[in-house]
Amino acid sequence: MTAPRWDVLLTGARLATFAEDTPFGLIDDGALAIAGDRIAWVGRRAELAAAGHPPAVETVDLGGALVTPGLIDCHTHLVFGGHRAREFDMRLHGASYEAIARAGGGILSTVAATRAASEDELLAAAATRARALLADGVTTLEIKSGYGLTLLDEQKMLRVARRLGAQSGITVCTTFLGLHTVPPEFRDRRGAYVAEVCDHWLPTLAGEGLIDAVDAFCEQIAFTPEETRRLFERARALGLPVKLHAEQLSDQGGAALVATFGGLSADHLEHLDETGIEAMARAGTMAVLLPGAFYALRETKLPPVDSLRAAGVPIAVATDCNPGTSPLLSLRMAAGMACTLFRLTPDEALRGITVHAARALGLTDRGTLAGGQLADLAVWNVRDPAELCYWIGGNLLRQRWVGGRPAA
Ligand code: NIG
Ligand code: FE
Repeated sequence: MTAPRWDVLLTGARLATFAEDTPFGLIDDGALAIAGDRIAWVGRRAELAAAGHPPAVETVDLGGALVTPGLIDCHTHLVFGGHRAREFDMRLHGASYEAIARAGGGILSTVAATRAASEDELLAAAATRARALLADGVTTLEIKSGYGLTLLDEQKMLRVARRLGAQSGITVCTTFLGLHTVPPEFRDRRGAYVAEVCDHWLPTLAGEGLIDAVDAFCEQIAFTPEETRRLFERARALGLPVKLHAEQLSDQGGAALVATFGGLSADHLEHLDETGIEAMARAGTMAVLLPGAFYALRETKLPPVDSLRAAGVPIAVATDCNPGTSPLLSLRMAAGMACTLFRLTPDEALRGITVHAARALGLTDRGTLAGGQLADLAVWNVRDPAELCYWIGGNLLRQRWVGGRPAA
């Protein structure tokens, strides 16, 4: 891609491009040019002169630092009131996540705290959490609703997500999760709740431009495949992409269901079977693995990683940051956990939080270092890409670039 002028030329970079099938798509002693908000050129420094490039306004020598695409967290519940540290304690004393939920705790306790919080309070709390994710390299973030569960409170959550995107300068993709759990007002009228969400809230919120995608929690303690199907039919009629919390605690056939709607992703997947995998492979529905929830719930059933690989289903990894099952504020840590707990290779885990995470959000303009991609970058204080999964904690990030500019 040629441009009349390059704004910035980064040299002396080890580029983990994820644009090739080679390990990390690594280019040693690389250079990367930025024009406007896009990557204009990527390659070996030695090839730069031969490329006959246009003049660069500014050249920065990174001294051998590792550069990756900005990290992409494709599954979070970042906006919520309160926290659930007490339930964490209860689980350590033997109570199960399902039992706590059935007793009116779990998601419902966060619903109460989220309803009680003002929009500004929710924004302040979410912004603090977002800062932690950004400090570990994130430049694109998905945020779900699902803790409001009235039209006004779902609206409030989604507005907070939009405002967070505007104030942090990064892309925030919003997902409507009205079918997260049945709220107290509808305790004995779940059919009426599903109808309200599908026929009233979804079109209203979509009409207000607050929704980029639609999700549901398809599970014994949440919503049935039939209820989920009804939601997905409405989403399809509105032209909205779908994704699903599927096969987390039991096999409901949710992955196959979301695949029949050409869904972006099926997420969690510990209890996924071969039928679901085949349906995902056929439909191009991505697998999103959430090791933070697996870890926090002390889950022992592993997602079928080998079968997903064999079927060619691309795997993304996300934090699932939420107050109940995954209070995880580092996407890099999620990638490390995907290696240690699920045996992804560092190359797979890092593709899972870059290129595959982008595709799981339906975004093709980011996730790799290649000409024409958005210039969202993370520059690291380490040299080997595997170190991003290997170090547990630590301040590895040197700098983020968002849309072609260094970010604060
Ligand atoms: O992704 N599974 C449903 N939703 C969240 C948990 C929500 C909660 O417990 O607050 C999840 O794990
Ligand atoms: Fe989730």
